[in-house]
Amino acid sequence: MEIIREGDLDEKLDYVKKKLLKGGIVAFPTETVYGLGAHAFDEKAVKKIFELKNRPPDNPLIVHINNLKMLGDLVEEIPSKAHLLMEKFWPGPLTLIFKRNKKVPAIVSAGLDTIAVRMPSHPIAKKLCDIPIAAPSANKSTRPSPTTPEHVIEDFFKEDIVLIDGGKTEIGLESTVIDVVSGEILRPGKIGIEELKEWLPSVKILGLSSPPQKKVKSPGMKYRHYSPKVPLILSENLKRDIERHDGKRIGIIASCERVRGGIDKKISTGFVREYSSLEELAANLFQWFRELEKETDVILVEKVEERGIGVAIVNRLKKAASKVSS
Ligand code: TXA
Ligand code: MG
Repeated sequence: MEIIREGDLDEKLDYVKKKLLKGGIVAFPTETVYGLGAHAFDEKAVKKIFELKNRPPDNPLIVHINNLKMLGDLVEEIPSKAHLLMEKFWPGPLTLIFKRNKKVPAIVSAGLDTIAVRMPSHPIAKKLCDIPIAAPSANKSTRPSPTTPEHVIEDFFKEDIVLIDGGKTEIGLESTVIDVVSGEILRPGKIGIEELKEWLPSVKILGLSSPPQKKVKSPGMKYRHYSPKVPLILSENLKRDIERHDGKRIGIIASCERVRGGIDKKISTGFVREYSSLEELAANLFQWFRELEKETDVILVEKVEERGIGVAIVNRLKKAASKVSS
């Protein structure tokens, strides 16, 4: 692994782009999480991404761009509803699904005839993405998404990749993924249904407002995800779940009101992570998973309200959890 600091990037930008153009792999920060990127039109390089991550071959990637002209080579058509969303939310943490232009290697979309595209707002991503970059989150499959360069190092240190160190990412959860034509949110994110509704009145969260579907619309939905190495429990009742795990080293993620109100005396304060807003929880959630898994036997996360970014937080917690207590 070669690490380039943010301050040195301008000087090394040509070098990094040449790497991408020659089939190299570059990990870079976005406003959501770090991505592990390859040139989207380089089939071999994209295949390498799947191998490095140990990603199931039927889980498609998102292509990152920094200007609208690039869409022409990636998508077959731009539905009229997409224009409004792109105008309002790009650059930013919103991924749109289009019909794939056949010029794009099928492996990018894991063989689907659609393609996911997003225009990130992070200044480093913006500098790189005049090359179309296919990039999943820069973590090994099933691991928590990386929100700091250290997380990328943890998962890929021995690999032949370039990492651009841009510090901690701001949002901490991956982009909202939306199928514009059907109006379905395939993966909730920072941009929530309330915000989207204004620009796409037909919007709905897949699985909530529609009857259960047999076919998985976003292949990423069916896999175990984001998981720490120790069991994680989404807890509706912290006191009872603490009692249930008596004798174990218990990690706790809870609101500061909850922590101030007192948590069991047996819990070591070093194993408690507290937040004062849901934005703060989102920004730190994956980092806390990676910290607490090293020191505890089980992680209890206090359930949060499914409103605003809380919808995305609960979505990730349910996927990461070995158990949802009730
Ligand atoms: O914020 C993000 O989106 C980050 C940063 C790096 O941009 N990327 C990210 O990529 O989270 P990844 O690969 O970890 O997640 C991509 C998600 C998966 O759930 C995948 O199934 C879905 O997008 N997806 C990709 N292409 C799709 C397609 N053609 N149709 C439906 N879902 C698609
Ligand atoms: Mg991912």
